[in-house]
Amino acid sequence: MDGTDAAPSDGALGGPPGAGPDDARRAEAGAEAGVLELHVGPMAAGGGCVAHAPDGRVVFVRHSLPGELVRARVTSETARFLRADAVAVVEHSPDRVDPPCPAAGPGACGGCDWQHAAIPAQRRLKSELVSEQLRRLAGIDATIDVEELPGTPDGLGWRTRVQFTVDDTGRVGMRRHRSHDVHRLEGCPIAHPAVEAVGVEAHRWPGVERVEVEASAEEGDAVVVVHRARSGPRTGTRALPAVDAGLVDGRRTVVPPDVLRHRVRGREFRVSAGVFWQVHPAAPAVLAGAVLDALAPVAGESVADLYAGAGLFAALVAERVGNQGAVVAVERDGAACADARVNTADQPQVSVVHAGVTPQVVTGRLGRPDLVILDPAREGAGRDVSAALAALVPAPRRIAYVACEPASLGRDLRVFLDAGWRLASLRAFDLFPMTEHVEVVAVVEPPSA
Ligand SMILES: C[S@@+](CC[C@H](N)C(=O)[O-])C[C@H]1O[C@@H](n2cnc3c(N)ncnc32)[C@H](O)[C@@H]1O
Repeated sequence: MDGTDAAPSDGALGGPPGAGPDDARRAEAGAEAGVLELHVGPMAAGGGCVAHAPDGRVVFVRHSLPGELVRARVTSETARFLRADAVAVVEHSPDRVDPPCPAAGPGACGGCDWQHAAIPAQRRLKSELVSEQLRRLAGIDATIDVEELPGTPDGLGWRTRVQFTVDDTGRVGMRRHRSHDVHRLEGCPIAHPAVEAVGVEAHRWPGVERVEVEASAEEGDAVVVVHRARSGPRTGTRALPAVDAGLVDGRRTVVPPDVLRHRVRGREFRVSAGVFWQVHPAAPAVLAGAVLDALAPVAGESVADLYAGAGLFAALVAERVGNQGAVVAVERDGAACADARVNTADQPQVSVVHAGVTPQVVTGRLGRPDLVILDPAREGAGRDVSAALAALVPAPRRIAYVACEPASLGRDLRVFLDAGWRLASLRAFDLFPMTEHVEVVAVVEPPSA
């Protein structure tokens, strides 16, 4: 289903205890302390809509959609703003649907923000959020279409990596929103079938803090990575349940395999347990395609791939620049560097540098790159690294910035624009359906280009 024609079932939001019809009736009675009736406005970063309380303070209302009239229970407040969960909807948005996941809703699983929004509306909201962040932080006025990824039109069954939290009794679940409480789960509808097939939810994981299931959509196999509690007694590995998957305890392999294999644009990539890999099965090919199309690398060029992970972009761009070209891949995770070396072993033009990306690395270790790819984690590259890249002499022909946090991207693009660089292209992709998260590929060109 694409959700567009699925009408919500009643005035209460679908889902768990705490948001059901009883809550709606209590809210409708209007007597419950801490419940406000609110007209909600635009979506804010963080997954909730902006409304105003009677005293004028801003309220961030989760589980609501722009334009709705809702009854919302206040969950926290400061002198400047409140947070609230919509527990009943008085006037629905046409974009509202019944959440496909039974654990979605106020007070329950904190994993997905937008199960209650139709998929086309999710992409529209993400477009608006990206546009707003780039306008506010970088002064960029752009309309951005968030592109659908192939394979999951209903937004379900895509997540090949899921991190579950373990409660005191050893059962797995997800943290509630802004809470340390664990909401127990029996399944996760956005998880890929290869993750669900492992069935970590059916077992007890005593002495464990988190259980991460990583799967290969192409091969159908999986590895479970167990993270122990930092404090408290260590339970022996014998206490770990037997699952039909590899099992890694921290960095120690208990049951092989401890690597997964992925195929992207005709190349095989080895990814060790715990090493970064995109969670949507279509993401590596789509992002690599977007980067290669925008940079248009040619034979003999020199490329820097920063925050290189297991070498996804390095290997694919190395095919374009060929043996006469050069690719420097910089990555701070040693296990990822080891994978990147294996994944580019047939490409002598690639060198992998095990280091954090810093201004010193940018000026001292990259040579004179014609092209730069950077794909940092949520915190972004930062102003200093961006400034060092913008000041490279000679300037790279183009820089592609792959970003999973539009606010970090906006902050860093500002540095390039202030240094005279110009935005050449911008694309956004729906890598994370059902959540507010979105991936952006921005390409900048130097002043003289
Ligand atoms: C979003 S992932 C991208 C990986 C790769 N480009 C891919 O698409 O598979 C970010 C990577 O940056 C690495 N990383 C995070 N901070 C870093 C830093 N300061 N310096 C170098 N690498 C870093 C992480 O270990 C991770 O592998």
